[in-house]
Amino acid sequence: MTGHLKNIKLWNIKIYYIDSRPRGNDFMEGVKKNRVFIKTYGCQMNFHDSGLIEDGLLKNGFDKAGSIKDADIVILNTCSVRDNADHKVVSEIGRLKGDKKIVLAGCFAKQIKLKKEFGVNINNADIPADYCFAPDEILSIPEILAGNLEKNYNGGIKGNGFKEELKATAEDDYQNFNLVEEYFYNKKIDSGFATIKIIEGCNNFCSYCIVPFVRGKERSIPFKIIYNSAKRYADKGVGELLLLGQNVNSYLSPDDVNKKNKKDFSYMLESLTKIDGIKKIKFLTSHPKDFNDKLIELISANDKISKNIHLPVQAGSDRILSAMNRGYIRRDYLNLIEKLRKKCPDAAFSTDIIVGFPGETDEDFEMTLSLMDEVKFDFIFGFKYSPRPFTKALEFNDDVPLEVKKERLERVFQKQKEIKSLRGGYQPL
Ligand code: SAH
Ligand code: SF4
Ligand code: F3S
Repeated sequence: MTGHLKNIKLWNIKIYYIDSRPRGNDFMEGVKKNRVFIKTYGCQMNFHDSGLIEDGLLKNGFDKAGSIKDADIVILNTCSVRDNADHKVVSEIGRLKGDKKIVLAGCFAKQIKLKKEFGVNINNADIPADYCFAPDEILSIPEILAGNLEKNYNGGIKGNGFKEELKATAEDDYQNFNLVEEYFYNKKIDSGFATIKIIEGCNNFCSYCIVPFVRGKERSIPFKIIYNSAKRYADKGVGELLLLGQNVNSYLSPDDVNKKNKKDFSYMLESLTKIDGIKKIKFLTSHPKDFNDKLIELISANDKISKNIHLPVQAGSDRILSAMNRGYIRRDYLNLIEKLRKKCPDAAFSTDIIVGFPGETDEDFEMTLSLMDEVKFDFIFGFKYSPRPFTKALEFNDDVPLEVKKERLERVFQKQKEIKSLRGGYQPL
């Protein structure tokens, strides 16, 4: 991946991976029933992924358990974005020890795989997980658990080292567009609302963020698949779509990269609004550096596109934004909000803010508060900086004491309360 991987440091939880129990076809031996419970952590992408896993499992003859207690197999679809996300998974695994089959999936699962691959010393004595699937392997879960698909795990069964297994599972389900299409097409529709993933992974490498490592490089899903899925949803009575990606603004249909009329995010949005029955389209997440004028024009001109815009700013000081590798300065962000407000006076803005990034002084932090004053966000998600394995920021000194991080976060929320009481309420996406 990148040079950052050389900087892996051990992190403080003792765990993991994978015992030597049999895999593949042997997996279901001794399991009398196939009741599965999926517990999902993290962001909308993970909840979306869990929906796909569930549909696949039902198609492959598994039943849905009503609770973890009633399940024979528990799938933990995990998050790893901050240290406390890791902790949640680790304590859940602790509670699950016993006769249940445990399947780890998602971003934390990938973190473990990477640590193994790069030789980080992980205590693997007491992880009772039977399987470990990275986010780009999840579409194969149902068939692998059902024993119908051996290919991915033969290496793991026959060899006894993790590396063989990792190699054998390195196939990217999201590059297998037939599989993606099949899953979208089979997805159960039970409300007037559906999510569609349009782009997987991220190439931005914000210095604090583990996502590019655990979700992999950016891959757009072909326009045709997304369009056909949306059409099918609309035919079944879905009126509202939520398009998902770590950075939806950099969407570019892979079949058209060399042609003249590129199918970019604006093209996609506009095409979907033309489908009969589609009434509203929302999208998550936008990156300020890629939010172009064409998109602003489209949003302002098209009633079907939601004007609730989630636009993470992260910090208000240029020094910190640069250390975060965000690719914009404070003025760029404010200009973008100004442009959007001018074109769409009824736009509502939400954002993400990190406090206590390495080197953040009181002055830097005051810049975040003053940016909040200028923008007057409708909703804020605030986080204390948390050092993550593999990231560039791990090289920086995490020098803001926890107490200061807590106090700054409190002040962010307090500031937001004041702003909100001036402006009235708003429901984020
Ligand atoms: N792709 C989205 C969201 C990624 S994760 C984006 O680019 O905005 C969601 C949020 O978690 C981020 O916006 C950031 O505010 C926060 N986050 C990510 N890594 C973090 C870390 N190491 N410590 C604290 N917050 C973090
Ligand atoms: Fe992480 Fe930055 Fe990518 Fe968002 S854009 S997922 S914060 S690296
Ligand atoms: Fe967490 Fe992975 Fe989403 S780390 S925030 S579940 S992309």
